[in-house]
Amino acid sequence: MSARARVRADALGPSHLPDLPDPPPGPASPRWAPAASGSPTALALLLGAGALVGCSGEPAGGPPPGWSDQVGLSELVDLDPSPSVLEVELPLRVESFSFRADAQVPLFTYGGTIPGPLLRAKAGDRVIVHAHNQLEVETTIHWHGVRVPVEMDGVPEMSQPPIQPGQTFTYDFVVPDAGLYWYHSHVESPAQVGFGLYGALLVEPAEAEPEGLGDEVVLVLSDLGLREDGSLVPADSGGAAGSLFGREGDVVLVNGREDPTLLARSGRRQRLRLVNAAKSRYFQLELPGHTFTVLGVDGGLRERPVEQERVVLASGERLDVVITPTGAPGERLPLRWVPYDRGYGSTEFREPEDLAFIELSDLEPELAPPLPETLRAISPTPRASATQVDLSLTLHSTDEEAWLGIDGLPSWEAPPLEAMIGETQVWRIVNETDWDHPFHLHGFFFQVDEPGAPLGWKDTVNVPKRDERTFVVRFDERPGMWMFHCHILDHAEIGMMGMLDLTP
Ligand code: C2O
Ligand code: CU
Ligand code: CU
Repeated sequence: MSARARVRADALGPSHLPDLPDPPPGPASPRWAPAASGSPTALALLLGAGALVGCSGEPAGGPPPGWSDQVGLSELVDLDPSPSVLEVELPLRVESFSFRADAQVPLFTYGGTIPGPLLRAKAGDRVIVHAHNQLEVETTIHWHGVRVPVEMDGVPEMSQPPIQPGQTFTYDFVVPDAGLYWYHSHVESPAQVGFGLYGALLVEPAEAEPEGLGDEVVLVLSDLGLREDGSLVPADSGGAAGSLFGREGDVVLVNGREDPTLLARSGRRQRLRLVNAAKSRYFQLELPGHTFTVLGVDGGLRERPVEQERVVLASGERLDVVITPTGAPGERLPLRWVPYDRGYGSTEFREPEDLAFIELSDLEPELAPPLPETLRAISPTPRASATQVDLSLTLHSTDEEAWLGIDGLPSWEAPPLEAMIGETQVWRIVNETDWDHPFHLHGFFFQVDEPGAPLGWKDTVNVPKRDERTFVVRFDERPGMWMFHCHILDHAEIGMMGMLDLTP
C-alpha cells in the first residue's frame, strides 16, 4: 500500500489549497455575500438568498418576521418551467472569505457560497444539475443518501470520469424519497469537502406531512481549519496521526456563519433539519433547559417522535428535530456543541462551544399543540432469507506508517463484496479500533438494529469504538459498483473504504 498511500498524502499537501483569485473590482463585498462578479448566477444567488421561509404578512401567530434571515441559504434559479423538474447551473469556483484576523481565505465553493446553495425538490422530481468545474483541480459531486443510478453517484472512475478543470458534467436523476440529503465532492474528499465543497438537498414529501411540525430551517453544520493568522490549515496537517484522529477544524460553522441568531416566538415549535457536513467532527448538541424531539433521520421521518436531552450527528448524518424554545422576551438560548467521546483525543481539553443562538422575541407566546403520535408507517425489512455479512473495522501500523482497513485490508487491496439485485443482507460491523467510525453505504437505505427505537431509514450509522452495529439492507434494481466507507473522510482516505458489486 505504501506507494499509493504516499502519493495520496502528497496530494493532500499545501499545493492543494485553493489558489486565491484576483480580488474582485469595486467596493469590498459584505462578509457573507459571494464576491460580486456581475454574472447572472451570482445575481440569482443573491436574489434567492433568504428564500427559506415565505412569511411576510404575519399578524396572527407565526414566527417573528425575518426569523431565519441570519441563516438563510442561497438558492438557485430553476431553469425548467415544469413543477416536477429542478434544473440548475452550478459553477464550482474559488471564492474568498474572511473569518479571522481579516485574512482572506480562498475556499472551494459551489456557486460562490459556503455551504453551496440549498437545492429543493419534491419526492419523485427530476433534478438536473449542470456542474461547471471552474476550479484548477478535478472533482465530482456525490449525492449523499439519494437512491441515484450508479452513473450519477459521483465516485471518480467508478461512476464517471472526474470532471476536469474547465469541463461541465450534468447530473440528472430522480429523487425518490423525501428527506434531507447533501452533496459533496468525492475527489480528495478530506481536502475538497474540508475546503468548502458541500451543500444541502432538501426533498420535500410529495404528499402532505402531518401538521404542526414547526417552522422549518435547514442548518448545515461544518467546520474549517484556520491558523491564528486566519490562513487555512493544510489538509495533511499532523501527518499520519492527523489522519488517524480525523482532522477537525477549529472554526465551527452553521450555514457558513459563526454564531448566527434565529429569532423565535416563545412556545412556538421550530423544526431544524440538520446535516453534519464536517469531514471529521461530530456534533453533539444541547439547548440548556430544553429538549430535542427527533422526528427523522437520514432518509426522512421515523415512525414516531422521540424526545431526547441531547442529539449527536456523526459526519454525514442528518437529523430532523424540533425544539420549542420558551423564555422571557430578549432571552438568548445558546445551541451548544458539546464534546462527544469518539475516541482518543476527542474530548481531552475541550469545552462546549456555542454554535448559534435562539433569541426570543416579545411576540405573545404560543402554546404548541401536541406532536402527532405517528409520523410515518415503515415496515421492518424482512430478513428471513437474508445473507449474513460480517465486517470488521481495523487499524494497522508499522514503525513508519499507519492505515485503516475493513477486515484487515485497506481499500486499495480489498476485493469487492458481492450482492444480487433483490437480495437482502444483514451487515454486522464490528469496530476493533479505539475510535468511532460513521459507516456509510452509498445508494441504499438500511434499518439499524436498535431495540426500542422507532424504525427509520439510514445511510450512515455510527459504530462506536470497540463496539458493533447491525443493519439490514435490501438491494433494489440498481446494479453497479457501490462504495461504502467511514465518513470521517480522513479515515476513508487512509483505507477504511470498500466496494460492493451489485449484479443482476
Ligand atoms: Cu457522503 Cu462516499 O459519501
Ligand atoms: Cu454517500
Ligand atoms: Cu473512521
